[in-house]
Amino acid sequence: MPSLEIRTAAAADLPAVTDIYRYAVLHGTATFELIPPDLAEMTRRFAALIDGGYPYLVASLEGRVIGYAYAGPYRPRPAYRFTVENSVYLQPAIHRRGIGLQLLQRLIAESEARGYRQMIAVIGDSANAGSIGVHARCGFQMIGTHPDVGFKFGRWLDTVMMQRALGDGGNTLPAA
Ligand SMILES: CC(C)(COP(=O)(O)OP(=O)(O)OC[C@H]1O[C@@H](n2cnc3c(N)ncnc32)[C@H](O)[C@@H]1OP(=O)(O)O)[C@@H](O)C(=O)NCCC(=O)NCCS
Repeated sequence: MPSLEIRTAAAADLPAVTDIYRYAVLHGTATFELIPPDLAEMTRRFAALIDGGYPYLVASLEGRVIGYAYAGPYRPRPAYRFTVENSVYLQPAIHRRGIGLQLLQRLIAESEARGYRQMIAVIGDSANAGSIGVHARCGFQMIGTHPDVGFKFGRWLDTVMMQRALGDGGNTLPAA
């Protein structure tokens, strides 16, 4: 594969990230957002994640950002603080070349290094074979399906919950 790089995202990557997510919002069912956030909003979200100490990665091919992945808080209440929810998006033209897998594997490693213990994927649409497949490849277990909790493009959509332990998971107590 020509010069694929997975690296920590920088503010300069956000126009490309915004474009990738815009396509997913307008044409896909992985996200339940209906109106694509603009660059200012994506920058605000990025800053909140970085300030919170979460990993935010991009995949760059020949110097062009073609995908991204990040982990963020699963739920805001503090007892959830060792659990993260992940997101991974690629430009559609480069699906199924192993790039999503590499992004997710690196995101898992970066989340483990930061001491998080569980990663949860909330996958929009039970027909999203790509997302379910890449999470299964990375060791996520199927937790279950919330049927018909979304409505987009004129149809009801499920969310599929998948989960993977990070590091020691629940086998040891966290440091703090
Ligand atoms: C989900 C997504 C990130 C996967 O990335 P990708 O680069 O296309 O996937 P990969 O090529 O790395 O696939 C890795 C493995 O996942 C599984 N997989 C990927 N796509 C699959 C599909 N369409 N059907 C079944 N399994 C699939 C396979 O096991 C695959 O390994 P293999 O190709 O050796 O069989 C990408 O398809 C995407 O951006 N989709 C749209 C947005 C989205 O759904 N994001 C997830 C939000 S939770």
